[in-house]
Amino acid sequence: MNKPIFIRNANQLVSFKGSSHSPLTGRSMENLMILSNGSVWIEKGRIADAGEDSILAEKFKDRIHEASVIDAEGKLVTPGLVDPHTHLIHSGTREEEFNRRLHGASYMEIMESGGGIHATAAATQKADIDQLISEGLARLDSFLLHGVTTLEAKSGYGLTLEQEIKQLEAAASLSCQHPIDIVHTFMGAHAIPKRYKDKPDQFVDLVSQEMIPEIAKRGLAEFNDVFCERGVFTPEQTRKILRAGIAHGLIPKIHADEIEPYGGAELAAEMGAISADHLLRASDYGIEKMAERGVTAVLLPGTALFLMTDPVNGRKMIDRGVPVALATDFNPGSSPTVSLGLIMNLGCLRMGMSPAEVLAAATINAAHAINRGRDIGSIEKGKKADIVLFNVPNYLRLQYEFGVNHVHTVIKEGEVVVENGKLVRKI
Ligand code: NIG
Ligand code: FE
Repeated sequence: MNKPIFIRNANQLVSFKGSSHSPLTGRSMENLMILSNGSVWIEKGRIADAGEDSILAEKFKDRIHEASVIDAEGKLVTPGLVDPHTHLIHSGTREEEFNRRLHGASYMEIMESGGGIHATAAATQKADIDQLISEGLARLDSFLLHGVTTLEAKSGYGLTLEQEIKQLEAAASLSCQHPIDIVHTFMGAHAIPKRYKDKPDQFVDLVSQEMIPEIAKRGLAEFNDVFCERGVFTPEQTRKILRAGIAHGLIPKIHADEIEPYGGAELAAEMGAISADHLLRASDYGIEKMAERGVTAVLLPGTALFLMTDPVNGRKMIDRGVPVALATDFNPGSSPTVSLGLIMNLGCLRMGMSPAEVLAAATINAAHAINRGRDIGSIEKGKKADIVLFNVPNYLRLQYEFGVNHVHTVIKEGEVVVENGKLVRKI
């Protein structure tokens, strides 16, 4: 096992109080716990203690010689970033479509003409599992360099049972090979395959009755997500698929109201989904229901930016009491970015959120959106030692100097995996 790590003297150590049991809402999202001269003692991959440097130095004085000491002077120390919504596993890129969109075509037009998700599905189906793993590994390295220590990864470019299994098995293999923790989501209902165009309900039955039981039996996923959108899955079809998931122990999530208001937010509340994601066009009533039911809104401003549309008003959601998280939605069509830092910047610059709120949204609330709030997302005794040191003196600077990757050091479960902005390779 690794030596203990003693992170010493951070200019600012930022975390959240009382946040392990449920996500932060309303004013509490601003309630940072800020320590100057902050230090953390890490042992056996967990946070053993965090507090003022002088107090920790006294407490561990007989053991400092055993520890690797990391000098955090002048730096900001935060919990590892958590990305609760990615489409990590796929093959290829779609820059030609991006160019078409820049010349006036819409995202849905491209999808309806056989491109979009269908194009990535075709490329992903062609790729063998080793190809998916090697593309995934490179992407995970980029995420890690941007301070992400846990992320959620969806299937959904397979669209047959066998192909969805291949995607989820690639994700499972990546979990064993890479320091980033991956949380697995089945998203067989990501698009209606062309062969089911005129009989979508048969595909809904296939997903509900054949795919979900088999995926659950193999333990390949923990969550079940559906793209609920006009022209994709209706609220009724979504309900059916999510119910089938619940019956097999899969926790519901929804891609809701991304392109037009379609009752996705309301359905997320009705089903007790752990999160509803996108929500660009969610109705006020749906938002109210989500707040009542405590459904986390996973907001994806990178997608809005890349689809050249206005992002969600995060301020309004927070003020209405909805727990808000932020994510990249990393995927080749609507958000090809791994920069959760940029996503936080967009939260501040385009969504009415404060620097404190975006940090809560990309750490503790993001952890709750994937059912990990007890184990990660804040710097608290007993939690996993997932910690980032940023090359800025305070959390305001992180948002002020926007569009820059400020990550200096990343510690994942008590191991230094990024140092001075570079990956540390295990020999
Ligand atoms: O979250 N909206 C549906 N799915 C993805 C996009 C997938 C793609 O274009 O390949 C999203 O935006
Ligand atoms: Fe998505």
